[in-house]
Amino acid sequence: MSIPTPQPLRQTSQSVDALLPCLRVDEFLCPARRLQSDHCSSLERKLTVTDLVTLNVSAAVRDRYSEASQTQVAALCCPVSYDPRFLDAIPREVIERDYGCGDPSKYVQPGDVVLDLGSGGGKICFIAAQVVGPTGRVIGIDCNDDMLSLARRSQPEVARRIGFDNVQFLKGQIQDLKLDLDRLEVRLREQPIASSSDWLHAHERSDELRRTSPLVSDESIDVVVSNCVLNLVRSEDRRQLFGEIHRVLKPGGRAVISDIVSSTDVPASLQNKSELWSGCLSGAFREDRFLAAFEAAGFGGLEILERQSEPWQVVEGIEFRSLTVRAHKLPLNCCADWDGSNATDVVYRGPWKSVQDDSGNTFARGQHITVCQSTADMLRQPPYANQMLFTSEAAACCEPSTSAGSFNPLPLATESNCCGPTGCC
Ligand SMILES: C[S@@+](CC[C@H](N)C(=O)[O-])C[C@H]1O[C@@H](n2cnc3c(N)ncnc32)[C@H](O)[C@@H]1O
Repeated sequence: MSIPTPQPLRQTSQSVDALLPCLRVDEFLCPARRLQSDHCSSLERKLTVTDLVTLNVSAAVRDRYSEASQTQVAALCCPVSYDPRFLDAIPREVIERDYGCGDPSKYVQPGDVVLDLGSGGGKICFIAAQVVGPTGRVIGIDCNDDMLSLARRSQPEVARRIGFDNVQFLKGQIQDLKLDLDRLEVRLREQPIASSSDWLHAHERSDELRRTSPLVSDESIDVVVSNCVLNLVRSEDRRQLFGEIHRVLKPGGRAVISDIVSSTDVPASLQNKSELWSGCLSGAFREDRFLAAFEAAGFGGLEILERQSEPWQVVEGIEFRSLTVRAHKLPLNCCADWDGSNATDVVYRGPWKSVQDDSGNTFARGQHITVCQSTADMLRQPPYANQMLFTSEAAACCEPSTSAGSFNPLPLATESNCCGPTGCC
């Protein structure tokens, strides 16, 4: 009986990718002193072959942004004007390495805990640090050593100029916000991967780190921002990426993301060009799919805050432009067991004839709807605040309504008889 030669599995290479794409893989696989071993070099050969298939996006992005941390690369992402009041405190070197396409820092508030995905040289973090002030906190995440080093060495200077230090830069992949790559790296230096057993142990260690000391904890962040980074994440990792953004946000928290979107799907021929990937074009989300990705992850109340009217670039007839979107992690609906107590009467004030929420419920202008307390609380918060009138304001209307029906996801909310069972208001 012949035993088939083991072939490198695609799954294996994906696992390696998930583990190490931003690290210099060759640093940990078969360090020079071990390359003598046949076993080791064959393992390296297998991993290298498969890496070429699956690591090209990560590698293209890593190499391009390492270069871009050393010297300004004008072609990377579109120029943006930031509030000049916040730029004085930021070292010139950081401002020059600006590879953004929008300014999500405009939408953070004093006291916020902010997470910046793909923080690069740190510019958005340093602006946000000044907006949130000493009572807030800013965490920048990047997986590129050179970018992290630029941001980290600039941090003391910014802290000195603004008078407080409320920023941290952490090493991680934005699609895997539980894994602390600095900690993993310590482990890998102690125990480099020289065999498949080592590799399995490294995997186990990664899982343990995710479980016991997550880089970013569940529900710990008020606002997740990102400037021109999500498009750099491989498409197969994007569902997890949006899930991670949702996980780390507190209920009621928001994501404000500036990114590049395309007018139509980007064909494979363009997606295979590494220059276009790292230049924020190949990975651009199709505009409608960008919004759909937030919805699929459970976000609601999406708002398009900014959209370039003229495309930033047109390639093969496809328009690429910057879009800034805010998406809300709406609190869980707590009305499922509502017994009708503490009801609040709400009325959509217009100007549209009717509006629909993310669960398909329609609010007609001027129509009274009775909702439970938690729904009323939600409607009082952004992005719905100011759209609705509540009991005391709405009570002036005495138009009785006749029908009552279920209202999802506020299940027991009904069209109300504004005069109520006990008589007219
Ligand atoms: C276009 S630059 C934007 C940098 C910064 N946001 C700005 O406004 O200048 C992209 C940054 O995202 C980082 N990056 C790309 N993919 C990443 C990933 N999957 N995880 C973490 N960082 C990533 C790159 O290393 C780079 O620093």
